Amino acid sequence: MASGDTPSGCRVDLSGQVALVTGASRGIGRAIATRLAACGASVAGVARTVEGLEETLKTIRDAGGTAEGYAANVADSADVNRVVEEVEAKFGKIHVLVNNAGITRDGLVLRMEDDAWDDVIDTNLKGTFLFSRAVGAIMMRGRYGRIINISSVSGLMGNPGQANYSASKAGVIGFSRTIARELAPRNITVNVIAPGFITTDMTDALPDKIKSEVKDRVPLRRLGTPDDIADLACYLAGAGAGYLTGQVIAVDGGMTA
Ligand SMILES: NC(=O)c1ccc[n+]([C@@H]2O[C@H](COP(=O)([O-])OP(=O)(O)OC[C@H]3O[C@@H](n4cnc5c(N)ncnc54)[C@H](O)[C@@H]3O)[C@@H](O)[C@H]2O)c1
Repeated sequence: MASGDTPSGCRVDLSGQVALVTGASRGIGRAIATRLAACGASVAGVARTVEGLEETLKTIRDAGGTAEGYAANVADSADVNRVVEEVEAKFGKIHVLVNNAGITRDGLVLRMEDDAWDDVIDTNLKGTFLFSRAVGAIMMRGRYGRIINISSVSGLMGNPGQANYSASKAGVIGFSRTIARELAPRNITVNVIAPGFITTDMTDALPDKIKSEVKDRVPLRRLGTPDDIADLACYLAGAGAGYLTGQVIAVDGGMTA
C-alpha cells in the first residue's frame, strides 16, 4: 500500500457513486472494477457472460462492496441499451463509465481477413461508442459523469501485426477527444488511458522471448500490472480529477516517452 492510501487501498472516495465497467471478468477490467468498489462505488460489471463475472463479483462482495453482473456483447447496440437500462433501473444513476472491453486479432495487414478487422473495430471502437452514447444520456440528465476509455500505446504508435487493433485504439482517442468537448458543458469528463504492456490473459499468450524483449524497451524495466491501470482509473473517477478532460495518459513505464 502506498503512503496516503486508506485501508481499502484507495485514496479516492467514491461513496454513493455507481460505476459501470465493461470487460470486468478478468485482467485490467477486473482490477478497475474491484478498485472502484474498494473506494466505495457500487459496480455494474459487464462481460460476455455473467458466469465469467463471478470471480470479480465475489471479490467485491467478500470485501463488503456492492456489485452486479450483466451479460452483453459490447459491439451489439441492443445488448448495450438493454444493459444500460437494467443498470439504471437497479442503481438509479451511473456516475462513472469505464470502456475497457477489448480484443486483439493480430496479423500482418496484407493477410488480414475482413472479419479480423471488423471484430476488433466493432468490439474496441464501436463498443466504446455504444456505451458512451447510452450512458452519456444518463450522465447528461444528472449533469455529472466520468468516462474513462481504455486505449493502448498501440493507438499512439504503430505496432506491426496490429493494424486493426492500432486503428481501433487510435479511433478511441479521436472519439474521446470529441465527446470530451461535447459533454463538458454538462460537467462530464472524458479521458483516455493508454496502457503499455500489461500482464493479463491478453498478453500471457505471447512467448517469453517477446515479453523479455518488451521489458528491455521499457525505461522502468518491468511490465505493467492491472493495478497500475486501476490506480489511474480510480484517480480519474475521483473528485481530484474534476478539471481534467480530453486527455490521453500513457501508463507504459515510459515506453512512449
Ligand atoms: N494487456 C495489455 O497489455 C493491454 C495493453 C494496452 C491496452 N489494453 C487494453 O485494455 C483492455 C483490457 O485488456 P486485458 O489485457 O485486461 O484483456 P483481457 O483479454 O484479459 O480481458 C478483456 C475483457 O474484455 C471482455 N470482452 C472482450 N470482448 C467483449 C465483447 N465483445 N463484449 C463484452 N466483453 C468483451 C472479456 O470478456 C474480458 O473481460 C482492452 O481494451 C485492451 O485492449 C491491454
